[in-house]
Amino acid sequence: MHLPRRVCLLSLLSLLVLRFVEAPAAAQSSAPNQAPWMNTSLAPEQRADLLVKEMTIDEKVSLLHGTGMEGLSPISPLAIRSNGGAGYVVGIPRLGIPAIQMSDAAYGVRSSGENGRYSTALPSNLGASASWDLDAAFEYGALIGRELRAQGYNMSLGGGVNLAREPRNGRTFEYMGEDPLLAGSMVGSLIRGTQAQHVVGDIKHYAVNDQESGRNAVNVHIDKRSMRESDLLAFEIGVSKGKPGAVMCSYNRVNGDYACENSYLLTDVLKKDWDFQGFVLSDWQATHSTAKASAAGLDHEEPGEIFFGSAMKEAVRSGRVRATELDDHVRRILRSMFACGVIDDPPQKGVVDVAGGFEVSRTIAEHSMVLLKNENSQLPLNASKVRSIVVIGAHSDVGMISGGGSAQVDPPGGNAILPPGKGQTRWQEQIWFPTSPLKNIRAKVPGARVQFDAGTDPSAAGALAKTADVAIVFAYQWESEGMDLDSLALPDHQDELIAAVAAANPHTIVALETGSPVTMPWAGQVSAILETWYAGSQGAEAVANVIFGEVNPSAKLPITFPASEADLPHPHIVMPPPESTTNGEPDAWKKIAAGLPPFPTTYDEGLKVGYKWYDAEKKHVLFPFGYGLSYSAYSYSNLRVAADPAQAGNVSLHFTLTNTSNRTGAEIAEVYAILPAAASEPPKRLVGWSKVKLNPSESKDVAVEVPRLYLSIFNVEHNGWQLVPGDYTFVVGGSSQDLPLRQSVSLK
Ligand code: BGC
Repeated sequence: MHLPRRVCLLSLLSLLVLRFVEAPAAAQSSAPNQAPWMNTSLAPEQRADLLVKEMTIDEKVSLLHGTGMEGLSPISPLAIRSNGGAGYVVGIPRLGIPAIQMSDAAYGVRSSGENGRYSTALPSNLGASASWDLDAAFEYGALIGRELRAQGYNMSLGGGVNLAREPRNGRTFEYMGEDPLLAGSMVGSLIRGTQAQHVVGDIKHYAVNDQESGRNAVNVHIDKRSMRESDLLAFEIGVSKGKPGAVMCSYNRVNGDYACENSYLLTDVLKKDWDFQGFVLSDWQATHSTAKASAAGLDHEEPGEIFFGSAMKEAVRSGRVRATELDDHVRRILRSMFACGVIDDPPQKGVVDVAGGFEVSRTIAEHSMVLLKNENSQLPLNASKVRSIVVIGAHSDVGMISGGGSAQVDPPGGNAILPPGKGQTRWQEQIWFPTSPLKNIRAKVPGARVQFDAGTDPSAAGALAKTADVAIVFAYQWESEGMDLDSLALPDHQDELIAAVAAANPHTIVALETGSPVTMPWAGQVSAILETWYAGSQGAEAVANVIFGEVNPSAKLPITFPASEADLPHPHIVMPPPESTTNGEPDAWKKIAAGLPPFPTTYDEGLKVGYKWYDAEKKHVLFPFGYGLSYSAYSYSNLRVAADPAQAGNVSLHFTLTNTSNRTGAEIAEVYAILPAAASEPPKRLVGWSKVKLNPSESKDVAVEVPRLYLSIFNVEHNGWQLVPGDYTFVVGGSSQDLPLRQSVSLK
């Protein structure tokens, strides 16, 4: 949420009359270790069952809500024990139940500045998903888990996986792209990594929260089949692979009901069809009722207790909420705490491993940067030959930009473009990390002349660029939660700047720092383009390593870069009418809680999300999904496709991948399926991939297994996945638009 998180301690102190349900920290360690539910040989479900039986109604209700947040809900005096994160749920020491300390943690742990701590910024989630590397995603989540624990948190609020239906969504950088298989698999690995550190993981924002404009009011219209095969499939895969302890339901309405009181989403799909065992918590102020939300499957309200505190107790007493329903909510929360290890292995505060974090962040950044253009092998630069470089724009003398909102990680020492000393960040302020491309480029070429131009005057930048062997322009597009982009064009006249530099120097390289795709009217005029996303704490080191060839780029786009905004399924985002928004009035939370008047947005492109849209509509794109260059070259041959005789509908593929260059590299080999016409699907869908490391001239046999689910369609009438009998054509290659291998197989 966008309002200050910090609880106003002074006003709280006056309320402190030792009303703690929770005992002081020391007492918590005297947990009833001998209690039957502390028996670690029992399953989490059994332990939760035993515990629920011991609880009073007050204790049960105390687990169903947070303790409030300034501007969003009244604050409980108990909030004083919060660890400083976005959410705090009091513990029950008598039963050995610790408090739940939640922190936002999209690309690193949030609010370090105001809490006097430090956290590593990883590359943006979208950037990380460009690595298509499931092990890297695990490491990403594990780093977050370790830093959460070191800071005293036991629950993450990361795991964003809303599908990029609308690339101008201000949170696109927090999500994992436009394909449900890639996004769901990557977020699943990330969650596994976090939970392996004994932190409760989360996946969010469930569901179809694909624009920020009017997010508390918008009513998304989308048909069930499209939803199940796109936005919800990303969650389905993420939930099944990651087994998160929690799912965060979103702000918006879906087909009439708010997501957090939507029984189709929460009960029919999540809890029944997907057999989700964890708990559902609301996004911050996305709860709008007690009995309706509870019956629909919401287990926990954040950040306060407007509906799931005394109102819940009253609803149980009066029979409007069944006691068994209350117990189910509590059981789910406790089960996740046991399953994720936060009861048996509570966090120990410590010093974050800064050097270790840098290493992980840099390595992931290096494997996330996508080389989009490299005419005449402009890159890598030869450090022993280049004599002069001009570095231009985007504060590249001091830093690289990061994504804003509740994902924001605080940079050490404060915003790199401001005077030093401010270690905190403010909502919707552009935050630049102190990782300097200029310094890192200089360090690679100590003998060369490396000059800097701020890029504020295109003709001056062009004049300086003319004097150098090479010009490197850094360009940015900033985005944040709480807003959408007006357009996919680079802001602040940067198109003009790049065009001026390119006109002056034929060796112009553009390094993009963006959260979403951008349009590039200058693409034909520059010699190289590198998409670095929001590159994190060590972004500049990673960029320099790629530019000078110490790292061979291997990432591929997880999202299409359209040629023009006019080609998007919706050329304009539907904006809310005034009555569906609030303007920061002090009592706005009351209006939001009561429900702002809905306004509709209709996703009538349906199944055609991302590349599926451009394929189906035959629209030319700037850079397609799955595309990315390398300093190596690869060839594909010898495809063999076989239906798995043991498991109907599963398919195995084998093919040969060869590195035809003299440089070691890694290729992401992508497999798409064209379904039979009777399936009425977009032209093709991603059904698998493999990231393969190859030495110079090396060939490898690559195997990809495609499970039946990824070849199926969702049959709404039968409420289930269905494989349509017929011929399935598999196409394999290095991008969604470069697929040299093709073979069909008949499936039934
Ligand atoms: C965001 C969530 C976030 C929560 C807590 C909300 O505004 O949508 O992603 O986890 O605030 O900060």
